[in-house]
Amino acid sequence: MKKITIAIDGYSSCGKSTMAKDLAREIGYVYVDTGAMYRAVTLYALRKKLFNADGTVRQQELEAQIPNIQITFRLNPKTGRPDTCLNGENVETSIRNMEVSSRVSPIAAIAAVRQALVAQQQDMGKQKGIVMDGRDIGTAVFPDAELKIFVTASAEIRAQRRFDELKGKGMEANFDDILKNVQERDYIDSHREVSPLRKAADAIELDNSHMSIPEQKEWLMEQFRKAVTA
Ligand code: DC
Repeated sequence: MKKITIAIDGYSSCGKSTMAKDLAREIGYVYVDTGAMYRAVTLYALRKKLFNADGTVRQQELEAQIPNIQITFRLNPKTGRPDTCLNGENVETSIRNMEVSSRVSPIAAIAAVRQALVAQQQDMGKQKGIVMDGRDIGTAVFPDAELKIFVTASAEIRAQRRFDELKGKGMEANFDDILKNVQERDYIDSHREVSPLRKAADAIELDNSHMSIPEQKEWLMEQFRKAVTA
């Protein structure tokens, strides 16, 4: 069967990663979480104190350090999923905390950061057989992807899902803070100058607000079957 490229874009916390990971496992494709890459750069910037007190980024300093930021993925044998590594260190847990979540949007808005990460993502997808999730996969990273999905859900439902996820992991969580974070990120992600979040003209939209995971899985497999046989 021919191998294709699958681009899954959409708003934050709408279950893109879960659906992309499950699909990749089911069909034997490589899975890449590009949000984790922007989060890893954010963690690096926090550790190197590259944020000003007002939350803005010391952009020139960060840009000069881009060559020192190596992001890789390592398969976790326990979860069967790839863990994100920053300069060889497994940072899968630390990149998911609220501090990183609230700082990642300004980092993802920096053109030089996007340029470096997009080049790496395009390289990862050269052989096809890849499921990549993010915000600009169908528009900027793989504009020729054979299957593009654009996922949406209401902000309240997305905040509830992230709240449940953090609680489930035993992490600190406050629903109102999470909702505010989701709404702020929606705004910044879709209003930034470079590659703003938007649905590609040829993407199929999926509003999963009231869909169960098995229903979503079935829907996605159907789209995959149609795309590979097209
Ligand atoms: O999917 P996520 O919530 O882990 O993504 C973290 C942030 O990274 C999100 O606020 C938007 C940004 N991002 C992006 O700009 N482009 C991507 N391809 C992936 C994520």
